[in-house]
Amino acid sequence: MPQRKKPHVVVTRRLPGAIETRMRELFDTRLNIDDAPMSREALTEAVGQADVLVPTLTDTIDAALIEKAGPALRLIANFGTGVDHIDVEAALARGITVTNTPGVLTEDTADMTMALILAVARRIAEGARVIPDDVEWAGWSPTWMLGHRITGKRLGIVGMGRIGTAVARRAKAFGLSIHYHNRRRVAPSLEEELDSTYWDSLDQMLARMDIVSVNCPHTPATYHLLSARHLKLMKPEAIIVNTARGEIIDEGAMVRQIEQGALAGAGLDVFEHEPAVNPRLVKLARAGKVVLLPHMGSATVEGRIDMGEKVIVNIRTFHDGHRPPDRVLP
Ligand code: DGY
Repeated sequence: MPQRKKPHVVVTRRLPGAIETRMRELFDTRLNIDDAPMSREALTEAVGQADVLVPTLTDTIDAALIEKAGPALRLIANFGTGVDHIDVEAALARGITVTNTPGVLTEDTADMTMALILAVARRIAEGARVIPDDVEWAGWSPTWMLGHRITGKRLGIVGMGRIGTAVARRAKAFGLSIHYHNRRRVAPSLEEELDSTYWDSLDQMLARMDIVSVNCPHTPATYHLLSARHLKLMKPEAIIVNTARGEIIDEGAMVRQIEQGALAGAGLDVFEHEPAVNPRLVKLARAGKVVLLPHMGSATVEGRIDMGEKVIVNIRTFHDGHRPPDRVLP
């Protein structure tokens, strides 16, 4: 029987070692050994030659790049769930399938969301600096380093998909009351399990929450979903946490609100112009008002291996002539 040619797969970043090894065994794989985002030139060359491109969120796969795709490119198998860096419509118009890696980073991202809620409410980042930074510590004090209790507070989740639901489950166990805003109301059984309240109106929900967690994908419809007007509706003692995408919040407006004391603080794992971070946010972090993480939501060894395995399954299924399990539609 004739052996089917291995697909030529170009991977734009270093992946966990076990995944790279497996990809080398299964495919004619070209890795970017620099582990830095590929230049536009290198990406253009890659899409011109590859059968399959494996990008990550640090690559911009826009319509202009897709236009340069060679006739062989049939699959963009993204290493990651968010696909806001890929022009999916332009890809589909060229007959290129796009896949992603949903599900396997849900729990890790939800953990990080809870970590940020706790870090901001309980001043964990500030406290963790005291001993290693040799700040003078005179011992326990009844009035020092007081944060806020989260038990009994209201959490408003913007986007009740997989990650929003995983956040809600954790938050319920912490004694928070669960509220959510979503395009569609979730199944009554899930609402009941979470003891959650659905808010059709984002405005009304925001005005009543103590903590707001952003967990929806970034799409043209959710760009600045939390606009300056929305942020002004929030209570001055409220905090906001974002582990989704920076673009969903009007970051400049949020900074102004925190600087003016109209919002108590924020916990951010993602930024509007990543990897650049607004210097005013950095100043607020030094002042203990915000906690900033460098996009670590899915950064676990297990999660990154699971993501790689999903990429491999998507490529193999597609190459075998079947519909890959994680096909993305616009
Ligand atoms: C994703 O997969 O989109 C995540 O943001 C990576 O952490």
